[in-house]
Amino acid sequence: MNNFNRFIAIVLLLFSFPAVLRAQPVFSTFSVGKKQFELNGKPYVIRAAELHYPRIPRAYWEKRIKLCKAMGMNTICIYLFWNLHEQQEGKFDFSGQNDVAEFVRLIQKNGMYCIVRPGPYVCAEWDMGGLPWWLLKKKDLEVRTLSDSHFMARAGRFLRKAGAVLAPLQIQNGGNIIMVQVENEYGVWGDDGHYMAAIRDTIRKAGFDKVQLFRCDWSSNFDRYEVAGVASTLNFGAGANVENQFEKFRKINPDAPLMCSEYWTGWFDQWGRPHETRGVNSFIWSLKDMMERKISFSLYMAHGGTSFGQWSGANAPWYAPTVSSYDYDAPINEAGKPTDKFFAIRDLLKDYLNEGEVLPEVPDEQISLITVPQIKFTKYAALFDNLPRPNKSKIAQPMEFFDQGWGRILYRTTIPGSASERRLLIEGVHDYALIYLDGKYLGKLDRRLNENTVKVPKAAKAARLDILVEATGRVNYGRAIIDRKGIAGKVVLKDGNKEMEVSNWNIYNFPVESEFQEGLKFTTAIGKGPGWYQGSFTIDKIGDTYLDLSSWGKGMVWVNGYNLGRYWKIGPTQTMFLPGVWLKKGLNQIIVLDIEHGNSERLQGVRQAIYEVVQDESMLHRKPGEELDLKLAKPVLTGSLPNEPGWKKVTLPATEKGRYFCLEVTQSQSENDPVTSLAEMEVLAADGKPLSSLNWSVVYADSEEVTSIGSSADKIFDLQESVIWQTQITGKKPPLPHAVVIDMGRIETVSGIRLLPRGDTNATGIIKDFRFYLQDKPFTIKKTSGQLK
Ligand code: GLA
Repeated sequence: MNNFNRFIAIVLLLFSFPAVLRAQPVFSTFSVGKKQFELNGKPYVIRAAELHYPRIPRAYWEKRIKLCKAMGMNTICIYLFWNLHEQQEGKFDFSGQNDVAEFVRLIQKNGMYCIVRPGPYVCAEWDMGGLPWWLLKKKDLEVRTLSDSHFMARAGRFLRKAGAVLAPLQIQNGGNIIMVQVENEYGVWGDDGHYMAAIRDTIRKAGFDKVQLFRCDWSSNFDRYEVAGVASTLNFGAGANVENQFEKFRKINPDAPLMCSEYWTGWFDQWGRPHETRGVNSFIWSLKDMMERKISFSLYMAHGGTSFGQWSGANAPWYAPTVSSYDYDAPINEAGKPTDKFFAIRDLLKDYLNEGEVLPEVPDEQISLITVPQIKFTKYAALFDNLPRPNKSKIAQPMEFFDQGWGRILYRTTIPGSASERRLLIEGVHDYALIYLDGKYLGKLDRRLNENTVKVPKAAKAARLDILVEATGRVNYGRAIIDRKGIAGKVVLKDGNKEMEVSNWNIYNFPVESEFQEGLKFTTAIGKGPGWYQGSFTIDKIGDTYLDLSSWGKGMVWVNGYNLGRYWKIGPTQTMFLPGVWLKKGLNQIIVLDIEHGNSERLQGVRQAIYEVVQDESMLHRKPGEELDLKLAKPVLTGSLPNEPGWKKVTLPATEKGRYFCLEVTQSQSENDPVTSLAEMEVLAADGKPLSSLNWSVVYADSEEVTSIGSSADKIFDLQESVIWQTQITGKKPPLPHAVVIDMGRIETVSGIRLLPRGDTNATGIIKDFRFYLQDKPFTIKKTSGQLK
């Protein structure tokens, strides 16, 4: 543009935009300077709030943005969700609820900047970390790597679409996008700088040609790879020790500005585990520390909202699906209300504003919460009376191969009779199966509990076998992300020593789209098996509400055609957020699909979220009366660790072989501390590289804190450094030694171990002295009185 055209463009912009915008410099710059970010050449501290546009109904977008500004933020940080925008391959949708450009414009209208994180992988407790399920149709799919050109081509196509929509809004073009992220926490996944460079180049070519690029990783892994021209930032959680977090980073990048690009305000909830919270005090303490040091930050999440529909993901190893609520214990709660954390942040940040910034009043235009009286369900459609046209398949295959993305899938076949009781083994139940023989319920298999076998009673003649499988969220994190749904392995009938692979299936798909549910054959006879319950309710005032599903089993809810998400009686969430903007004054329609023999036809709306875990004893890795006996076991390593943050590597005197290992902790760093805590643990192969933990399972843990916080023993290999194993801290603390036993799934050659202590400011349970045992055979676990020590 020559100078005259540029002048005309500026004049036109000034007159066509609302007053708020005129206050913002047009054609600004934002870049990385020496030890600071610079906006138009002046130092700038980013105080960002992460919001996810699909987790907030569009009508509420601006309300949430305004609240973030009133909390003291100057920037909104967003992910893009590839699988939301390209639900069918090649068909892109950036309109309506998916109109992310409008979301960014609303941010600008409110005088705030925007950070965009387009992925292609985003994690975010979102189905498959934002990658589209249809990629899984490719049998040998690999993701986040240059070695799969199929993946790279499709990721590139999406990034180009994203660029077409958002690149015009770069700050250098007169928009408000100050930074764009390349990939997401790639250091957790790999060390291939070439892959990162390819994603960087694709983002640049997609039109993000001027904006500052950045990446985010952890203090423990940001140096695993290098990618030029991309600023580096770190992620860590509430109460972290800020000094420690940046220590290594500063040494390697002495001139870089510091930013915590995900400062976790709370954490997400997983089915069957306690509701996660993070206290205000330690959260504020670390935030204040960052502000004192002029460290930029982004609050993940400022407001989590809801993963409506089928979008919530899962973690693994140790499959742990995420609930639909993404409240996150964030400063602005799921219903959009400011919490104590919100006011504590606002109170802190008012003293740390950049030059020229003004903290607005807290807006008072939030929609009110209403109750909905008991809803009576008058119609019912039994699942087994509503079978769609089947697919035929010799072997049981996952739903992706039948063009189904989410929902439930029924596998039906006939098995021969037998004079004896048999066992049915289903490999790869993804994720929750109900099994029936001639319509009679035999049992359920829950992937969370590693269940894979049911007993099949003797039968005089051939019988119909039905396996109904529900998908409860694709893994969004780590190597288990290739997570096909339905049955992802073999189905084998075991009769004594004889084994028979079950085949010749009719396969029925039950998708999640509301049109499908509305098209079912409903009758007025209310049944009890898996099926859909239809009802209606009348309201005279519109407002947000939480539907209380605590007396229902497991399933999904649609109101006026909107899919609210998943519910499950095991908790912790017993309610589902229903935004008022999806309600109508007068009559509203509701459909509930319950696969767990729904025992209730009633439902009501309440004003508050209800959290309650229906305590699932089996989530503890020690049955009452069990006691690990190490008398005959010999440690292959006895070690003592220094009291320092970060990973510690300990090498075995010689390599050893074994399938089961035990870590026994005999002394904490603090003299009289009876607790043991551990963030992560790796076992090293002969070449010194960490062994994959994908097939690990916890056999035994003498003590686990699962009441006040989800600190079970599987957290030591969940690859999430901020989530830890901790022995019991509520009530009586059991004494040392503490031990965890893990089955690696097969015999491995081991050269050493790596241990990562907790990284927050709490020093409880940090390991000093330990013994490490490794053997081929399971460890001895004795049955004692039935009392836990
Ligand atoms: C990481 C990811 C985010 C999210 C958080 C946990 O930091 O980058 O997408 O998954 O963990 O909530």
